[in-house]
Amino acid sequence: MEYALETAALNTLHTDCLIIGVYKDQQLTPSAASLNESSLSIIHKVLARGDNKGDLGCTLFINALPDSTIERILIVGLGDAKVLTGKNFRKALQAVFICLKKTQIKTTTCTLAEVTVSDGDLQWKTRQIIEIANDTAYQFTTYKSDKQTEFNVETITITAPEADIASAQLGLCQGIAMADGINLTKLLADLPGNICTPTYLAEQALALGTQYDKLTINVLEEADMEELGMGALLSVSRGSRQPAKLITLDYQGGDKNAKPIVLIGKGLTFDAGGISLKPGLGMDEMKYDMCGGATVLGTLKAAAEMQLPLNIIGLVPASENLPDGDANKPGDILISMSGKTIEVLNTDAEGRLLLCDTLTYAERFNPDVVIDMATLTGACLVALGRVPSGLLGNCDALCNDLIAASEVANDSLWRLPLWEEYQEQLKSNFADLANIGGKDAGTITAACFLSQFAEKFNWAHLDIAGTAWRTGQNKGATGRPVPLLTQYLLNRAYG
Ligand code: BES
Ligand code: MN
Ligand code: ZN
Repeated sequence: MEYALETAALNTLHTDCLIIGVYKDQQLTPSAASLNESSLSIIHKVLARGDNKGDLGCTLFINALPDSTIERILIVGLGDAKVLTGKNFRKALQAVFICLKKTQIKTTTCTLAEVTVSDGDLQWKTRQIIEIANDTAYQFTTYKSDKQTEFNVETITITAPEADIASAQLGLCQGIAMADGINLTKLLADLPGNICTPTYLAEQALALGTQYDKLTINVLEEADMEELGMGALLSVSRGSRQPAKLITLDYQGGDKNAKPIVLIGKGLTFDAGGISLKPGLGMDEMKYDMCGGATVLGTLKAAAEMQLPLNIIGLVPASENLPDGDANKPGDILISMSGKTIEVLNTDAEGRLLLCDTLTYAERFNPDVVIDMATLTGACLVALGRVPSGLLGNCDALCNDLIAASEVANDSLWRLPLWEEYQEQLKSNFADLANIGGKDAGTITAACFLSQFAEKFNWAHLDIAGTAWRTGQNKGATGRPVPLLTQYLLNRAYG
């Protein structure tokens, strides 16, 4: 998809479809009003029929305009309030782009960036238009014989006043970078486990490294990890024929001496549970257990594309978790890179085994902050559903920064407590700690486990088990939490 800006008057435009807004009392957005004037009140006449009363997200096409280079008009309802909330602005945009599906419209011009939004400026609105159009257009057709998608739109032109073109331009560049990052994350996540192996993820990271000067990739092999003493991570891949990889993406966009932001993403390219085998129903969805890793790749792509003046390290521990004669067994005791010993009481709690050694490894980068994201616990779905990602951490300032970014990005978070009382649940009779904490508070005890390997830096953990993909009929990756992380990075760079 191509995105562009336009400052010229509407009646000079050539477009397959012009998108305008109407409020509940039939008041038109400025562009809609001027178009109405230059077209013998056609918009008012159509609205007077009552087919679109301006309810939020209600859409109506005017399918032919006599003597005009505008082929169609799409009217979207904006609701009651003249000042929209960010959420309602997004809802209107979602309705617009869904409405363009299954039509033959190739070029569209969207005037909705002129709508007043309480918590969003022109730059933000421009970005939202791109993000939502991109989200609607995405379809995973790699393995379909018929690659025709439902969304035929090729260009989206966003109108902006000449005077504000600079902030629209910024929004355009950022929106495109974020959309590209999100698409990479979705694509990697939607790929099946037999294609998207740890080796494949490493290859994709290396390919990304060739695209950006400031991005360097380094891949640790099992022998390297052996040397580092990563006994927890390697215990998981021992049960798989695919070798584990620890991928480092090193983006140096900032001052040479600036401490890096470290992003860690769980990269389980398939999680069958190991000897503690998962039930069969829905097990295919465990190909998404690498969404944390895919998020790291997507976010670094966006950051490199935007040339953010920051130093960012991405770390993706990648492996499969399968049952095998050489796999972890319940009761096994592992020695992690930190020296702490771990009793494996459930081989399906494998994510934390990869992450704990990666957290220890992160120390060598002298991080400013470390943020990990992982599809870590089914318990997170029980607690929070599929709306926010779970947030836990050892640093209030970092957690608050992430929450602030999540609100701007509309990629919500909910913080859970990480009180020391919960650490009790991880006690082991035979090792320093157990890898599970019993049936209560599973998301919290998983984070408690990680916290024991994150004592030397400011750290936050995002449990994205409920947010990284949709289940059911519309099954597919969401690209979350790339919007949140990119916004956090933007705030760190310019905020
Ligand atoms: N990848 C899963 C978590 C998961 C489950 C994500 C369902 C999304 C949907 C993780 O490796 C896992 O299996 N966790 C176990 C932990 C338990 C054994 C303590 C879980 O949640 O059941
Ligand atoms: Mn598991
Ligand atoms: Zn898992």
